[in-house]
Amino acid sequence: MLVNAADMLKKAKAGHYAVGHFNINNLEWTKAILLTAKELRSPVILGVSEGAGKYMGGYHVVVNMVNGLLKDLDIDVPVALHLDHGSYEGCYKCIEAGFSSIMFDGSHYPIAENIEKTKELVKAAHDRGLSIEAEVGAIGGEEDGVIGKGECADPKECKQIADLGVDFLAAGIGNIHGKYPENWEGLSFETLDSIQQLTGELPLVLHGGTGIPAEMVKKAITLGVSKVNVNTECQLAFAEATRKYVEAGKDLEGKGFDPRKLLAPGFEAIKATVKEKMEMFGSVGKA
Ligand code: G3H
Ligand code: ZN
Repeated sequence: MLVNAADMLKKAKAGHYAVGHFNINNLEWTKAILLTAKELRSPVILGVSEGAGKYMGGYHVVVNMVNGLLKDLDIDVPVALHLDHGSYEGCYKCIEAGFSSIMFDGSHYPIAENIEKTKELVKAAHDRGLSIEAEVGAIGGEEDGVIGKGECADPKECKQIADLGVDFLAAGIGNIHGKYPENWEGLSFETLDSIQQLTGELPLVLHGGTGIPAEMVKKAITLGVSKVNVNTECQLAFAEATRKYVEAGKDLEGKGFDPRKLLAPGFEAIKATVKEKMEMFGSVGKA
């Protein structure tokens, strides 16, 4: 059964580890993440961007696919199905479709409008038992058409949004979606520390988890990060494994073109990436 992400992240914050949020794109992706979580006894959050939701056919398809996998694969660790970087309209659609958690990304609005919309969506989510994530200070780079300026969040604005009753908060601290450029200056731990001091027990979220060095991720966890979002790294691993398979001509040998064979190396590569991240975040054995 799906659970909302509030309790799993409260436990993570108290236990000084983070739960991985991994974006999904299709059946293989979802199955690989769920099986890894089960094998490692780790809680997990499945992230769905609006673009990926549309690609999979719609939010009802996603909800039914995930619920079916939970049942048929006997997934007995806590799993949340979470809208990633949701719009105001997208949040309502996912509440209705049966997601267990939403993110309202109002970071591109002026703060007053971000507050107003977040406040309304906190009530809408909580009335139906969902958890809700909000964002302050846009994450840099681009993810599925959501473009962020990459600024560090104002800790006082974080406090204003935290006080609306959100369950966890994403704050820009120099993190970027996609690959980090050579000249990236790293995470601003000073900003993270000030945010944590003002928001207390509220679990914080680190977006742009692809390619952040392990020491930085671990330090961020000591400063209150309880959820780390990873998307691009699974895509890169899947693409590389699939490319190697095709370049070796394996799709031409025997029945190598059968999608169940063709997609298998990418599936295993996602599992390996998710395992590495869960170990890095400290969530293994916490389910
Ligand atoms: O919301 C999802 C993420 O922040 C993922 O970022 O693609 O850089 O791993 P990433
Ligand atoms: Zn993100």
